[in-house]
Amino acid sequence: GQPQIITAPDRQAVGREAARVVEAALTAGELSTLGVATGSSPLPLYRALAASRPEGLSEIAAFALDEYVGLDPQHPESYRQVVRREVTEPLGLDPHKVRVPDGAAENPALAARMYEEQIAASGGIDLQILGIGGNGHIAFNEPGSERISLTRVVDLTPATRIDNSRFFDHPDEVPRQAITQGVATILRARRLLLVVHGPTKSGLLRRAFEGPVTPDFPASFLQSHPQVTVVADQVSAQGL
Ligand code: GLP
Repeated sequence: GQPQIITAPDRQAVGREAARVVEAALTAGELSTLGVATGSSPLPLYRALAASRPEGLSEIAAFALDEYVGLDPQHPESYRQVVRREVTEPLGLDPHKVRVPDGAAENPALAARMYEEQIAASGGIDLQILGIGGNGHIAFNEPGSERISLTRVVDLTPATRIDNSRFFDHPDEVPRQAITQGVATILRARRLLLVVHGPTKSGLLRRAFEGPVTPDFPASFLQSHPQVTVVADQVSAQGL
């Protein structure tokens, strides 16, 4: 399917436009479970929502896309902390209704399977917020991830570890593995909201939506979802 594309001049405006998509879903009564992404792309969206605090926002449940394995859950860059700091608190969500995979579990593979079950048991995700990685990853579904993949433990590629080293004091500190929702898990969400901006993202949307559908570029699987909204700045939307 072709995505609905909304362009905006800069990252703040991308955040505001994306927030309007979330607000519209809330108003329509179509949002009780939100899927939240980390990374820098959705931050302006979360800020915009924190400012507008639409009616009903504080009632929703949320599931994070992914979490590092083997990082102290108290580490400020664990996604548990990032989600608490950037989403749960500023948006006024109920912390008991916000879930993040347990990357510190003794058995991370089991924690991953349980997370998949929790999502299913909740009735599924109504609206999934997504970013895109420089290598085409969605969540931590790195190149090679299959269309049918579920929530699981994955190895991070060297490129992703280098990308994410900006969040850590030293590149060696970046974890080597993560628990991530699978491609199939993500595609099961009723609606996807992909937020993309910045010079490093130029060309990625074109590859995702105009290129071949292939595990080599996991974001290309978004072509098979019927309800994708892309909010992007002009540079990243080029060629769509
Ligand atoms: C991160 C996250 C993804 C995110 C992507 C892009 O590592 N696991 O969920 O979408 O990479 O990050 P950013 O938005 O900072 O460019």
